[in-house]
Amino acid sequence: MSYHNPYTPPRKSATFDDYTLAEIRRAAATGIYDIRGAGTKRKVPHFDDLLFLGASISRYPLEGYREKCDTTVVLGSRFAKKPITLKTPITIAGMSFGALSGNAKEALGRGATIAGTSTTTGDGGMTDEERGHSQTLVYQYLPSRYGMNPRDLRRADAIEVVVGQGAKPGGGGMLLGQKISDRVANMRNLPKGIDQRSACRHPDWTGPDDLEIKIMELREITDWEKPIYVKVGGARPYYDTALAVKAGADVVVLDGMQGGTAATQDVFIENVGMPTLACIRPAVQALQDLDMHRKVQLIISGGIRSGADVAKALALGADAVAIGTAALVAIGDNDPHWEEEYQKLGTTAGAYDDWHDGKDPAGITTQDPELAKRLDPVAAGRRLANYLKVMTLEAQTIARACGKNHLHNLEPEDLVALTIEASAMAQVPLAGTNWIPGKGGF
Ligand SMILES: Cc1cc2nc3c(=O)[nH]c(=O)nc-3n(C[C@H](O)[C@H](O)[C@H](O)COP(=O)(O)O)c2cc1C
Repeated sequence: MSYHNPYTPPRKSATFDDYTLAEIRRAAATGIYDIRGAGTKRKVPHFDDLLFLGASISRYPLEGYREKCDTTVVLGSRFAKKPITLKTPITIAGMSFGALSGNAKEALGRGATIAGTSTTTGDGGMTDEERGHSQTLVYQYLPSRYGMNPRDLRRADAIEVVVGQGAKPGGGGMLLGQKISDRVANMRNLPKGIDQRSACRHPDWTGPDDLEIKIMELREITDWEKPIYVKVGGARPYYDTALAVKAGADVVVLDGMQGGTAATQDVFIENVGMPTLACIRPAVQALQDLDMHRKVQLIISGGIRSGADVAKALALGADAVAIGTAALVAIGDNDPHWEEEYQKLGTTAGAYDDWHDGKDPAGITTQDPELAKRLDPVAAGRRLANYLKVMTLEAQTIARACGKNHLHNLEPEDLVALTIEASAMAQVPLAGTNWIPGKGGF
């Protein structure tokens, strides 16, 4: 006999939905937490929740085919003797050799070089291929110190001190054993094939004063030539930005919770850190309070996909953006072409659930030499260059429509928000009103 009433269909719980139930069963069956790549998959307020107003009677647009809209950006103008100049404010974020194949790193370098922008190393050090193929290469200095050496500091064009990442503020790196090949093991001074969990904090720091000392050491090693960036995950952007500036950073890199990772616990990715949109205004406020806006440059990352996202980040006060996931997609990652093979791995193209696994059919997030060979770095580099060009043109189109002759002239006044949440986070009015919730402090 059924106890269910015959008038309404069975109703599933919004709290205990199908995915949650499956995850409880998975945990019960295996006894281990889930590790995966990519950033948060839940929907959080994002650039999609903002719109540009464009010019009308009160603003004067620029003509697309005649009037110039500059896209260049100079990074590191505060202290570095050799600041870097990029043709587009879209940079390639730090992704490690280890997480990525040598061919993938080469493709990123080639694409960025064609587009006139920079690439970044990652946990595990610098490879000769990426140095060789990247006109402008930023060298990451991480808590793990894997692959760190003074020679590579000197042959970099800028140095990025990594304090944290948006996917896991407060957490360290992770590279599973199946990706630790002889070469990766050798560069990191680790045994082959054993899971590597790298440090979540720098071994010789106990607080912000130590960051100041470290930056001074890095400047001395590199003769004050290289711009020094400080990268933080989106957690307390106002104070983190202010402290990075106080410690002597030339550039602050701020990575929100949509920011990708090669491998981290799912619970971490989904529950720690703030959305990218919520990070920008507090960081810009900190720079303005210190009279350092545009003097110390701000690079924003975490979920940047299009020229519209770039334009919105810049309008909110960023100087440049960095892309990780989108760059990997542009060079061929998670392409539906490989769907059959993704299915065999228990995932599907576009789910990015294979990055930690080392068996990437596209040859990008793998150290398997046979799989890595599938990626042609020259063709993949060209795809990346095309994508960067399209994003730059898109951002320029929007800027011209707002009457701006440089992307950096975009401003919060060009934007409205579609939701109350986005309005509060981005500190721009809700569309059709002049109302900004919570205005008056952070
Ligand atoms: C495959 C992969 C590897 C990464 N490795 C590193 C790393 O070694 N160091 C680091 O600071 N961030 C690392 N990140 C994070 C990126 O630098 C960047 O913060 C993030 O990808 C930006 O967000 P997006 O992927 O949405 O563009 C990695 C990201 C990915 C996707």
